[in-house]
Amino acid sequence: MHQEIIERFNSLKEKQLSIDITRGKPDKDQLDLSNELIDMTIPFISEDGADLRNYGEQFGIIEARRLGSELLSAPIENILAGEQSSLLLTYQTVLSNYLFAKPTPWKNLENPKMICPVPGFDRHFMMLEDFGIEAVPIPLVEDGVDLNALEETLKKDGNFVGILCVPKHSNPSGEIYSDSNLSKMFEIGSKYSNKFLFLFDHAYLIHDFLPTPEQKPLWQVVEESKVQNQTVVTTSFSKVTFGGGGISFMATSGDSLELIKKVRTTMIICPDKLNQKRHVEFFKNIENVRLHMEKHAALVRPKFELAYDYLEKLSNDCGTFSRPTGGYFITYSTSKPIASLVVKLCSDLGVLITPAGSTFPKNYDPNDSVIRLAPTFVTKDELADAMNVFITAVEVAHYGIDI
Ligand SMILES: Cc1ncc(COP(=O)(O)O)c(C=O)c1O
Repeated sequence: MHQEIIERFNSLKEKQLSIDITRGKPDKDQLDLSNELIDMTIPFISEDGADLRNYGEQFGIIEARRLGSELLSAPIENILAGEQSSLLLTYQTVLSNYLFAKPTPWKNLENPKMICPVPGFDRHFMMLEDFGIEAVPIPLVEDGVDLNALEETLKKDGNFVGILCVPKHSNPSGEIYSDSNLSKMFEIGSKYSNKFLFLFDHAYLIHDFLPTPEQKPLWQVVEESKVQNQTVVTTSFSKVTFGGGGISFMATSGDSLELIKKVRTTMIICPDKLNQKRHVEFFKNIENVRLHMEKHAALVRPKFELAYDYLEKLSNDCGTFSRPTGGYFITYSTSKPIASLVVKLCSDLGVLITPAGSTFPKNYDPNDSVIRLAPTFVTKDELADAMNVFITAVEVAHYGIDI
């Protein structure tokens, strides 16, 4: 059996592949779905008479905010439509609390800590590191965060300022938080402190490609739990229209809304209102956004299915893999502590994979087990080669084969 794996390894090496499956980016055919945006002509006056060519409408034009309100199912007065990046809004939220949170800005707290369900998004960890906020990992379970771990962690010493999570098609392992998981998270967090911030990066809110368990709109759960003032939800059209070229949205309320307004007032006079208008004219309404996402799903689904076909060839002894129904990533968890070795072997064969450990704070995966695969930004032929390399590398590492 090992002979076959060695031969496969060597023949893949001869192919001198050069494939990058590190980042979850939309492929060209997905971007083509929005080409109309590039040269469409739009009115330069907003619905309520604002001149979109000039400064003004600091928190987004009314029609973009309305679209955001439909997308996030939150009242329009709670919605801000920003530039193209939701990550920037998340960063600004952390910054605003760092500088101005009441009664105590986070910068004045001794050793502030943020809970981060893992595996998670590397840029969230980088962001917290910028502020010297310690990212404290807790495990994800099938339907959201491990609530016992959350409760136990909050009993420990330290200034826990909040939790940062991706509540749907979590990056990278694809969990979908259940409504009850979310309500209990709100209960536990607000019992800890009525200043505990629930920060949701809803990057994959409408990115299903297979039937997905229903979630109540997040803002509805927020309202039912009465945590509007301590919740911030961000999302964007980055993986709806153009990567880094869509509109970002935020839903929040009360003190959190005031804080974000305060910090943004200093740093930016207004977002790109013409791009906001272009998107509103392109989609017209939320139904069309959903129809557009079905076209993405049709392009993305076959790539995930192809990746699943290869991963199924691996013996269960080697590890397990997530089967997300949306989003951009698959997580493979090795049963032995060999993730770094697998990533290195893939690189030796010309396939770049996100470095092992990067889905954990400080790049430290205590079990050296989690590997993130991003199957979208390659052709199907490249993906087939990359997956063949991946499963071969897992087998070589798992069986300790000398190559
Ligand atoms: C969880 C998550 N949040 C945010 C982003 C970036 O979104 P944006 O382009 O809106 O900043 C990504 C992109 O990969 C992501 O995976």
